[in-house]
Amino acid sequence: MSEKNHRVSRRQFLNYTLTGVGGFMAAGMLMPMVRFAIDPVLKAGAEQDLVAVASVDEITNEPQRFDFKVHQVDAWYESEEPRSAWVYKDESGNIIALSPVCKHLGCTVNWASDPQNPDKFFCPCHYGLYYKDGRNVEGTPPIAPLDVYVHEVKDGTLYLGAAKPPQS
Ligand code: FES
Repeated sequence: MSEKNHRVSRRQFLNYTLTGVGGFMAAGMLMPMVRFAIDPVLKAGAEQDLVAVASVDEITNEPQRFDFKVHQVDAWYESEEPRSAWVYKDESGNIIALSPVCKHLGCTVNWASDPQNPDKFFCPCHYGLYYKDGRNVEGTPPIAPLDVYVHEVKDGTLYLGAAKPPQS
């Protein structure tokens, strides 16, 4: 093979150089954009801070709805998100804080709002029912129990964290 066949023409040299430099510049511009776009996915799921919700004295054996706000940081966006919890004391005096978000399609459940089921949580969207402890009633649309808030009592105040599926 002659040396002539291996020689790079001026046109080829310019093509290679410009393609390389262009690719390098494009990568330099795209990488921060891609990183910015997927940043929330890359961050480890931060534990939600506990928020003061109610005085323990207010909590009875009957579920009561407490509304509160959580400060949420979603990458570059910060907001105060409204939350609610159904809170009561069980027979042993333990505090139970249930999420009101129905596990069927996400409507809001209410305590004792169905006259035929005065001792259950009721979801009006598709007639979902839950027992007082949050377990879903079989034969109604929800297929999982209500989420339970992480909670802590400090100086007579109830603090709530994230709502999670109950441990079985
Ligand atoms: S959303 Fe609650 S039963 Fe369908």
